Amino acid sequence: MLDLSPLGLVEPPFSLSPDPRYFYISLQHKATLGKVTYVIEQCQGISVIFGDVGVGKTTLARRLFQIYRDREDFVTAYIPTPIYPTEFQFLKGVCAEFGLSPKRSKFAQLDALEDFLLRVFEGGKNCLLIIDEAQGLVGPQFELIRQLLNFETNTQKLIQIVLLGQNELRNKLRLKRALDSRIATRSTIEPLDPLDTTNMINFRVMVAGRRDPLFTDEALEVIYDFSKGMPRDVCVVGLNVLPLALVDGVGIIGEDLVRRAIEELS
Ligand SMILES: Nc1ncnc2c1ncn2[C@@H]1O[C@H](COP(=O)(O)OP(=O)(O)O)[C@@H](O)[C@H]1O
Ligand SMILES: [Mg+2]
Repeated sequence: MLDLSPLGLVEPPFSLSPDPRYFYISLQHKATLGKVTYVIEQCQGISVIFGDVGVGKTTLARRLFQIYRDREDFVTAYIPTPIYPTEFQFLKGVCAEFGLSPKRSKFAQLDALEDFLLRVFEGGKNCLLIIDEAQGLVGPQFELIRQLLNFETNTQKLIQIVLLGQNELRNKLRLKRALDSRIATRSTIEPLDPLDTTNMINFRVMVAGRRDPLFTDEALEVIYDFSKGMPRDVCVVGLNVLPLALVDGVGIIGEDLVRRAIEELS
């Protein structure tokens, strides 16, 4: 691996992987996490998070998974890409994530899941299902999610569900009125504003081991102009400018280097 120590870095600050350690929590992320965790903990069923490609949905999903996976009072499952040919396969996939064996029919599988959810509930625990890339779900699979939300007591849902997806998900849900109207809370993650873009970059640099800023103010402006605050594009620039900075042997990265990295990208 490239030695980043001349730049004061212990590990690479910019990566295209959704590592929750590198997740900068802006006010909008805090608000979204707040709403979604409230619905989860109040057992109110389903929350949906929308956002364009590269805005940070998967990172947020992993963050949520991390929070609840470690909690003793939760049983949590995470499905990164729900690509299933039928709703029965989808149901079996969900059940497998909760450690349930496959059954012969959809009916038997639903029964087994309901039994499981009741046992979890009686054990004083809560079940959480996180589904990323939920725009990949198709018609009857949304119907199945609605059925899962029918597993409930007088006061609460037995399974909490968080869907994350691109804007296409919004259109798909509109066509599923019965499910759409059951959504307890919906949020949209927007690209970062200039200040949060700077904060995110500085945060990532700090997590990677460097105390003082890696970029000049002008360089940060150029990154914002190029990325318009889309985190994935910010990371792509960062990824490409680091080797240039190492070759040039600079201690802080200025706008010229950033412009060069961006030119090489296009
Ligand atoms: N709030 C954030 N703080 C730090 N990095 C972020 C943030 N949001 C997204 N990223 C980074 O941007 C890239 C794309 O994020 P990702 O979660 O994969 O987006 P999406 O799932 O919406 O396409 C990843 O490298 C991720 O680490
Ligand atoms: Mg994603």
